[in-house]
Amino acid sequence: IGVVGETEETAAVDVLLDGLSQLEYRGYDSAGIALANTELNVHKAQGELEALESAVSRPALRGSSTGIGHTRWSTHGPPSDANAHPHTDADEQVAVVHNGIIENYQALRDELTAAGVEFASDTDTEVVPHLIASHLAAGDDPERAFRRAVDRIEGSYAIAAVFAGEDAIYGVRNESPLVLGLGDDASYLASDVPAFIDHTDRVVYLEDGEFVRLGPDGVQVTDADGTRVETTVETVDWDAADTGKSGYDHYMLKEIHEQPTALRQCLRGRVDELEGDISLESLADLEQSGPVQFVACGTSYHAALYGAALCREHGVRATASIASEYTTDRVPVDEDTLVVGVTQSGETADTLRALREASRAGGRTLAVTNTVGSSITRVCDHALYIRAGPEIGVAATKTFASQQLALTLLAASLSNTSSHREIESLRAVPDQVQTVLDTSQAKAIAEEFVNADAFFFIGRGLAYPVALEGALKFKEITYEHAEGFAAGELKHGPLALVTKDTPVFAIVTGDGKRARKTISNIKEVEARDAPVIVVTDGESEAERYADHVLEIPATDERGATVLANVQLQLVSYWVANLLGRSIDKPRNLAKSVTVE
Ligand code: G6P
Repeated sequence: IGVVGETEETAAVDVLLDGLSQLEYRGYDSAGIALANTELNVHKAQGELEALESAVSRPALRGSSTGIGHTRWSTHGPPSDANAHPHTDADEQVAVVHNGIIENYQALRDELTAAGVEFASDTDTEVVPHLIASHLAAGDDPERAFRRAVDRIEGSYAIAAVFAGEDAIYGVRNESPLVLGLGDDASYLASDVPAFIDHTDRVVYLEDGEFVRLGPDGVQVTDADGTRVETTVETVDWDAADTGKSGYDHYMLKEIHEQPTALRQCLRGRVDELEGDISLESLADLEQSGPVQFVACGTSYHAALYGAALCREHGVRATASIASEYTTDRVPVDEDTLVVGVTQSGETADTLRALREASRAGGRTLAVTNTVGSSITRVCDHALYIRAGPEIGVAATKTFASQQLALTLLAASLSNTSSHREIESLRAVPDQVQTVLDTSQAKAIAEEFVNADAFFFIGRGLAYPVALEGALKFKEITYEHAEGFAAGELKHGPLALVTKDTPVFAIVTGDGKRARKTISNIKEVEARDAPVIVVTDGESEAERYADHVLEIPATDERGATVLANVQLQLVSYWVANLLGRSIDKPRNLAKSVTVE
């Protein structure tokens, strides 16, 4: 975050420190700020923001109206005070914060070192202030020195810099998010809107290659040649309160409970029960007859698996790949292929890379994302928003449910098949999720099994990606060993892990062939003395073979797998809570991973 200008109530130091706390959800391991006056005032600290708060005296710094702040998630060099941003040159003429990775930093570092520069950190970022300083020394003014330094760097970056003696911030972006906030008395620059939403809701999303200067006289956006760029000012409708915890102990629990609302938002205006129609406004001109390839990472990959399976059920040829493997594998793409990037943040580097490559190979591209204005929406030809609202907990919950529903709509829309019945059951899902939230027995299950050796999750068909997601959520926030398997695959190896101390969660919905087969798999587990918890709508006889039941309302398989996932989210949450884990900010994880 950066700010220039101050109102009567708010000084720059307060905007920066409070803004950084709004960005905590992105995951970080150190933090810092730099305030510009005649001299730069730089403070940084490893660890949580409290460490930075105790390293600075807010009142002593309130004389400055210009500054930048940063939370760092390590890519080069471990978390430490020295590696925290901002980084400066030796004379502290310029301070820089940076998100992304400077790929040619080693060559630049060698060159600067040969010229006598001493580095104070292990980061790639530190080459930037030294490059800027070398141009200042050659007689350039700050703006020119900044541009010339940026000319030398390769990679992904969102950069902000302040100079001693100047009330201004210089910024630039390439493949990393950067957004401007326009207030009445101050301007802001940040990697995401919540950083300054308390001060203004008027924003400009910067494009790759754009430079910006924020000064007391206003904001100028220019291209690489210095030519002024016309920008569009948008009004963000996220209420500042939306980013608070609303009385819940954790963002994750709040977000689990927000799912009925999120899902209603996802469906709004897109399904017409009377006509039996699904209309996705942004995809009106997308005619697709060729194959569909889904690419994604983490939880979004599980949604991608789910989306691909749904497409196939609708007769559409579809596959799902982990984004980083998709690019390694060189999956063939031609102009008939539609490549769908599923990403909550819209900023995941692996997913962006896959989409860029697919686009270069001539494929058509679609972003399924929660984040308007995110990088993926510029990379792709089309965008479908899942409309889940801001998600702060690092572990994705409501965005997964909204991805499930959005991909259900997409599969029906791509295949031009939707029925009154399908739409009716889709529309019932938000209320059924509410029923699960109101009646879930997940807390009692968590109490019973909190000390188990390991936790397994099985499912078949659409329940298979949900079993994978159940296990991922579990390991992310409990740090316990958890694995998800296709129900039929258990007997081909994983069964060796099953003991009386490894509870198995089995998802069984409906009373068809899939349910009967999964019940056979449950019996295999039961025979090895493992406790079985079935997540079921009661349509089959699954509960007869189970030690415990997590009930969900009866609906079709699509809706049922959304509901089953909510039960598993709650089990993870309560086990993590009993174990006293850092639920909203699990160790080693970041909400949005903007490096490959
Ligand atoms: C990170 C997060 C995961 C998330 C993944 C993909 O690794 O820790 O929870 O699922 O990124 O994020 P995306 O924003 O692309 O959905």
